[in-house]
Amino acid sequence: MSATRVCSLSELEQDAAKRVVIDGTPIAVVKDSNGDVHAIGDTCTHGDISLSDGFVEGDTLECWAHGSAFSLVTGRPLNLPAYEPVPVYEVTIEGDDVLIDPAVTKAVTPDIH
Ligand code: FES
Repeated sequence: MSATRVCSLSELEQDAAKRVVIDGTPIAVVKDSNGDVHAIGDTCTHGDISLSDGFVEGDTLECWAHGSAFSLVTGRPLNLPAYEPVPVYEVTIEGDDVLIDPAVTKAVTPDIH
């Protein structure tokens, strides 16, 4: 699959998440306070909750249900109760268009316990 246009850059509010669905894959698109755009899996790994309904804090997106904050860079939860990462997708900006390919995820290095 190739990258799909999901919205325009100007549609994204700073420090807020927008839910998009590409071929059945729910994705949270976030423009952080630096203006960088991130795309992570929208479903919390602790429960069937949409992360885009949560809160953007710096480079994390916090699940509103029980407070796990997921890194927008690595997809890892930084605190319990979630402990599994969400996928992180490559974002391409072309002019004012935001494109995401749901088949392309960035590698996440496993945590070492
Ligand atoms: S459902 Fe997200 S932390 Fe519990």
